[in-house]
Amino acid sequence: MSLTYPLTRNPQPKTPDQVASVLADPGFGNYFTDHMAVATWTADAGWTDSEIRPYGPFHIDPAGAVLHYGQEIFEGLKAYRHADGSIHLFRPEANARRLQTSAARMMLPSLEIEDFFTAVTELVTVDAHWVPDAEGEKSLYLRPFMFADEVFLGVRAAQRVTFSVIASPSGPYFAGGVKPVDIWVTDSYARAGAGGTGAAKCGGNYAASLIAQYEGYQHGCSQVLFIEASGKDRVEELGGMNVFLVTADGTLITPALTGTILEGVTRSSVLTLAGELGLTTEERQVTPDELFTGIREGRITEAFSCGTAAVVTPIGSFRTAEGEWRLPENGLPATLAIRNAILDIQYGRVADTRGWMRRVV
Ligand code: COI
Repeated sequence: MSLTYPLTRNPQPKTPDQVASVLADPGFGNYFTDHMAVATWTADAGWTDSEIRPYGPFHIDPAGAVLHYGQEIFEGLKAYRHADGSIHLFRPEANARRLQTSAARMMLPSLEIEDFFTAVTELVTVDAHWVPDAEGEKSLYLRPFMFADEVFLGVRAAQRVTFSVIASPSGPYFAGGVKPVDIWVTDSYARAGAGGTGAAKCGGNYAASLIAQYEGYQHGCSQVLFIEASGKDRVEELGGMNVFLVTADGTLITPALTGTILEGVTRSSVLTLAGELGLTTEERQVTPDELFTGIREGRITEAFSCGTAAVVTPIGSFRTAEGEWRLPENGLPATLAIRNAILDIQYGRVADTRGWMRRVV
């Protein structure tokens, strides 16, 4: 039976002035709406106690399994306000499916696509006044997540799990917007290995990326690029987003999904849209040498990162301890065409011919 999420209204919601001041300059991930969706799973009863309730802390026992073994997964998607005031989600069923895949890998329970969708849409509906206007590429970032909530210190899959969705009005992930970002290519750290959790959207992958990310900051970079751990012969992905390269002959290349890379919803959307823009697409192995030599010899003319939070953000350079490979300043024709194509769909500026958008309000 499908879950319903009865609403308990927040008795002390933010005032219209407080909401307006947040929406004027939200940054990324700093502020949260008045409500959250929550549901509980137990091995005995399955999913129960689903509700929308006032945003607030969880009560987690000090022996709660997630605090010790990190059994946790999450998603990221956005609600966009269109010019007529209506609110739409972008491909939410793709996030719902990926949550199921991540859950399977992390021994967490499966949540039906419909139950994911209801949680997200009910939350957006009750907090609709928190969805910013399109101006400044703002949106309501939605963060569904699931964690082991059993009070038990043995190492096994938890018998009690919490699913929740919170919402955060947000602007661009990178403060500079479309200003190209510099990327540190780490030789010291790996994000994932064969048979590991690289393809799951679990907190542990992001925790593992932090030290490399920090190494990148120390070299003046905003993100880190990981190379496959064992052979060091495959470019994989950035700490929190997928990577694309554009060649002088109009080919769009991204590392193939090898089981160690996150199957990004934006990644798949970019691959679909690129064909319409006259680019040939290739999902295949990219070696670090191909990347560096390609940039140096002018074969790779653009590069960008992509993800729900980052949308499509141009890359200015790749750096290692050995040197820097800077992309040409060529006006980023392919990157910007793809970026605009996806944003135009998300903000309803062009017809949604692929049925990607789901109207909520
Ligand atoms: C997203 O793009 O939604 C992510 O989860 C990545 C994170 C860097 C915010």
